Amino acid sequence: MRLISRSLATTLKVGRNLGSMCEPGDVVCLGGDLGAGKTTLVQAIAQGAGVDEDEYVNSPTFAILHEYRGILPLYHMDFYRLGSSEDVFALGLEEYLYGDGLTLIEWYERAEDVMPESALVVLLSYIDETSREISLHSDDPRWLNKINELAATCG
Ligand SMILES: Nc1ncnc2c1ncn2[C@@H]1O[C@H](COP(=O)(O)OP(=O)(O)OP(=O)(O)O)[C@@H](O)[C@H]1O
Ligand SMILES: [Mg+2]
Repeated sequence: MRLISRSLATTLKVGRNLGSMCEPGDVVCLGGDLGAGKTTLVQAIAQGAGVDEDEYVNSPTFAILHEYRGILPLYHMDFYRLGSSEDVFALGLEEYLYGDGLTLIEWYERAEDVMPESALVVLLSYIDETSREISLHSDDPRWLNKINELAATCG
C-alpha cells in the first residue's frame, strides 16, 4: 500500500493514527533516505500511542535506543550507526524485537535479517520539499486492516 503525503501535517496525522492502533509487541521498521521523515513519523506515532507531548521524542542516532512511556512502553531505536545484525546482538537489542512494548526502528535496513516477520515496514521517500511517499507493508496479515485504515486517513 502506497500513499502520498503532501504536507507535514498529513504525515503527522498518519503517524498519530498508526500510533493509536499499535498493540503490545508491535514492531514498526522505518526505512528511507536521510531526511525522508522517519523521526518525524516516530514522533507522531509516539503521540498517538499516548506519550506525553512534553516527553520530547528526538532522533536517537547517537543513543541508538530511547525509551518512553505511553499507553505501552515505547522503544525508539536508530540503527544508522550500526554495521549489521551482529551489532544488534552485541548490544542486546534483539530482546526489544520480541518484547511487550511498541518498538520503532529507524534505519532498520542495517539489520534487516533480525526483523520479525510480524513487523510493519514503513518506507518513506522524498518527493519534494513538502511531499513524501509513504509505503506500508507487512508479511503478517494482522496489519492489513490497519494499513487500509491508514490509507483512508491520507485520502
Ligand atoms: N510531508 C512530509 N512528511 C514528513 N516530513 C516532512 C514533510 N514535509 C516536510 N518534512 C520535513 O522533512 C524533515 C524530515 O526529517 P526527519 O528527521 O524526520 O527525517 P529522518 O528520515 O528521520 O532522517 P534521518 O535519516 O537523518 O534520521 C523534517 O524537517 C520535516 O519537517
Ligand atoms: Mg531520523
